[in-house]
Amino acid sequence: MDRRCFTQWCSGAVLAQGFASWAAPIEDYASIALVHPDGAPLKASEVGTDEAMVFAYPLKGIPCYLINLGDRKSSTQTFTSPDDGDYTNPPGVGPKGNLVAFVAICTHQLSYPTPVASYLRYAAGGSELGGGPGRIVCCAHGSVYDPAQGAARVSGPTQNPLMPVRLSHDTATDQLSATGAVGRKFFERFFQNYKGELIERFGPGVYRQEVQDSAVAVPLSTYSRQVPAC
Ligand code: FES
Repeated sequence: MDRRCFTQWCSGAVLAQGFASWAAPIEDYASIALVHPDGAPLKASEVGTDEAMVFAYPLKGIPCYLINLGDRKSSTQTFTSPDDGDYTNPPGVGPKGNLVAFVAICTHQLSYPTPVASYLRYAAGGSELGGGPGRIVCCAHGSVYDPAQGAARVSGPTQNPLMPVRLSHDTATDQLSATGAVGRKFFERFFQNYKGELIERFGPGVYRQEVQDSAVAVPLSTYSRQVPAC
């Protein structure tokens, strides 16, 4: 029985037992190592607190943010995604449990970082739109998310959190991996919206392929030429 079948079986089994507030587990994708552009493993101790790092996961056309919350604690809670149902965001990882990751696609109107620009960013030190420090802000229309609380909506036009990515941390090597995510249907909606743009960047169908083995992570200021402040 593969993992997805097991998940479906579990779903039926739990519902049959009458649990009302049950959230689906995060979907397993290939476990991939986060690496530097030269291929060296990215270590938890190398993730700075001043901006997000960008990597592709679980599909080549899906950008994600890796965030070091610094002194802020990561909490978990159950959310409802209009595309993918209920889920509980994974806890932070690393020696301090303060490393988290999310799909970097705004759940309002799907703004996302490209090599040209990113209107969605982690405002570590605070911003006019985000108010307090440590918020993810989307300058497209003013949505604000809190990455310490599962990227829950704080304010603005979005009604939903950013989708979560599950990380793992090897305490022996300090290396980071991505192991799962929520958002299969959300990804499809994103692909439909940006099909032409994604084909141009990645090639036909390539943006839908699963990332295997490793993903390069770079600071957002390196990934995007323009990162507007708001
Ligand atoms: S797309 Fe992000 S606030 Fe509208």
